[in-house]
Amino acid sequence: MKIAILPGDGIGPEIIEQAVNVLNALGEKFEMETAVVGGAGYAAHGHPLPDATLKLAQEADAILFGAVGDYQYDALERSLRPEQAILGLRKKLGLFANLRPAILYPELAGASTLKPEVVSGLDILIIRELTGDIYFGQPRGVRTAPDGAFKGEREGFDTMRYAETEIRRIAHVAFQTAQKRDKRLTSVDKANVLETFQFWRDIVTDVHKEYPDVALEHMYVDNAAMQLVRAPKKFDVIVTGNMFGDILSDAAAMLTGSIGMLPSASLDANNKGLYEPSHGSAPDIAGKGIANPLATILSAAMMLRYSLNKAEQADRIETAVKKVLGQGLRTTDIHESGTTKVSTSEMGQAVLKALA
Ligand code: IPM
Ligand code: MG
Repeated sequence: MKIAILPGDGIGPEIIEQAVNVLNALGEKFEMETAVVGGAGYAAHGHPLPDATLKLAQEADAILFGAVGDYQYDALERSLRPEQAILGLRKKLGLFANLRPAILYPELAGASTLKPEVVSGLDILIIRELTGDIYFGQPRGVRTAPDGAFKGEREGFDTMRYAETEIRRIAHVAFQTAQKRDKRLTSVDKANVLETFQFWRDIVTDVHKEYPDVALEHMYVDNAAMQLVRAPKKFDVIVTGNMFGDILSDAAAMLTGSIGMLPSASLDANNKGLYEPSHGSAPDIAGKGIANPLATILSAAMMLRYSLNKAEQADRIETAVKKVLGQGLRTTDIHESGTTKVSTSEMGQAVLKALA
């Protein structure tokens, strides 16, 4: 089995290094090949998603991705910015289903900004559609307004659109995932205002007929944002579009107090996937050895479970992570008094030890 390793920018390389060490310690025969991506891709080959990197990602059975983005690339034109690498990979590989779990480990209950009783035991899963919506809809751009109250002025515009197939396939993923959990699905939309999301609601309702054992609830996105901080444990699985999912998944991540703990999977129709931590490249702390490698290590576990058919190895990694948390080891982002502050590599080493 071949794994493409794409470290990217900022803290990407240092957290990926720890996850690769963990994969190497499992006693499996993985072929791993590394390639540049994001700002690093631009610096080396003049493009955030160089051809060789895309080719490697296409050939591989799974992709382990660090993070992209750094201040020095902020002034580049949009098509050359680091973010285009991850958007390009999602689109070109057809990775339409993004799974973002938000789990609060009991050891980290104090890390959340919310009251412990609101978040303790939190275990929710956001399923974000990842290749459609206003993120990719055409046309888009800046133009002279052709009509309306500001006709003749310059205006920026994007297009929100969802095809029936796009909604159906993400709805199937969501219902099937809910069947393996608590059988409760909340579909988040803005059907009261947007045509796109009234259509979304109609299609999700139709797909529901095939999954009568799952309880389906529809919720407007503004209410969903409120409920996420009011009573997050009421959710089990949430399914939503690309943009709402981007926003809600950051809010959900912060419920756990530590975005540095959360993995994610982006899957195609055949469970080939790209796995990345939910946090970004954090260029402000890059190279200091203080980044939390656990989200990336847990992403490697998701990769073993969803794309490589190695659920037992995934369990081993997750158990090892719980063990090091139980030992009181914490990187800076999750450090509290009474626990032991460790560096990125010390945390990685501790996970290796816990695996053995
Ligand atoms: C995410 C990120 C990306 C997104 C950016 C980096 C393009 O915020 O994965 O949530 O908006 O999808
Ligand atoms: Mg985001």
